[in-house]
Amino acid sequence: MELNKKNIEETLRGVIIPPSKENVLDSKTVLNTQVFGNEVIIDIEISNPTLQHKKKLEKTFTSYLKSNFDSNVIVKLNYTIKTIEKENKIKGNPIPGVRNIIAVSSGKGGVGKSTIAANLSVALSKLGYKVGLVDADIYGPSMPIMFDLVGESPKAVEVDGKKKMKPLENYGVKMVSMGFFTQANQAIVWRGPMASKALNQLIWDSHWDELDYLIVDLPPGTGDIHLSLVQAIPLTGAIVVSTPQEIALADARKGVSMFNMDSIDVPVIGIIENMSFFAPIESPSNKYYIFGKDGAKNLAEKLGVNLLAQIPIVQSLREASDAGHPAVLQSNTEISNSFINLAEKVVKVVDERNLSLPSTKSVEITNMKGCS
Ligand SMILES: Nc1ncnc2c1ncn2[C@@H]1O[C@H](COP(=O)(O)OP(=O)(O)OP(=O)(O)O)[C@@H](O)[C@H]1O
Ligand SMILES: [Mg+2]
Repeated sequence: MELNKKNIEETLRGVIIPPSKENVLDSKTVLNTQVFGNEVIIDIEISNPTLQHKKKLEKTFTSYLKSNFDSNVIVKLNYTIKTIEKENKIKGNPIPGVRNIIAVSSGKGGVGKSTIAANLSVALSKLGYKVGLVDADIYGPSMPIMFDLVGESPKAVEVDGKKKMKPLENYGVKMVSMGFFTQANQAIVWRGPMASKALNQLIWDSHWDELDYLIVDLPPGTGDIHLSLVQAIPLTGAIVVSTPQEIALADARKGVSMFNMDSIDVPVIGIIENMSFFAPIESPSNKYYIFGKDGAKNLAEKLGVNLLAQIPIVQSLREASDAGHPAVLQSNTEISNSFINLAEKVVKVVDERNLSLPSTKSVEITNMKGCS
């Protein structure tokens, strides 16, 4: 068969990439093909931009075309990453270019929100997504330390005639933090309205450019900062972090019901159980359930929400955060893999959520009834 556009497209009708049941042309995975001599260039749209997935596609297309045409055929794939066009669906005010906004919250303090928000952000970036992170913890910002950006401050840029703040960037994540505007060791007494105004500025006045995911690390609790946040921005969903212990679970439950309130209605993407157990390096099969066993797992089951991960207590996770080099950057350790798995799960749940639910609009909060 002659190697030309028509024949190639006809042939590609035989290629189906699961889970799709349609061939790559009907599913609009292949957008265009071009032929230059024995070289075939295929423009392809994918929603999974991992290296592994791309390699698999390259192998599939190459072997298929070689066997149908000539073994000398060279196949090149040009990728566009498919993202759900959320902007079109958002009824409130979207943040230009930002597709999914996910809040990481907890009722109780110190359960590992910031550690998880930092590692999740870097993991998403490692998977090939464009990621931003807002350290919304006005009372105790920790991201400048975790991202080794202490003492740095963002520069102003002009975008369409307006002054915007250019987020700092490290490990592939664009980050803004209230910590940029406060001096170390300087205690600031924020009042509620002041704090929420600062938070809004941080989110709206940053030049994010294009983002697949904007992760927002919230301060602990279910107070006015949280309500202001959901009031102001169209959240895609919320992640609730809890340790397995009873006192943290009670607060996590409160967090879930806050997002479930009729007047807020932000989908809970899932619960993450942190500090699930401790296993000494020298005897990893000896697990110590210091804060109790499966508490958050059982809560997730009871509330009918996803359990996204169970993260153990790992000394190097704490050390890595303190050293400004998140543990997910370690190559192929148990803890770095657990954050990559978490990120993959978050992507999957968010994709499902975007297909099945109308987008959350920004809501007007009048009271906190039903929030306990
Ligand atoms: N799985 C873990 N193993 C070991 N140390 C952890 C783990 N998770 C968190 N930590 C450590 O516990 C401390 C509290 O974590 P982190 O600051 O992330 O919690 P937080 O919920 O953001 O706290 P806050 O409510 O104050 O914002 C940090 O020192 C962090 O490094
Ligand atoms: Mg924190």
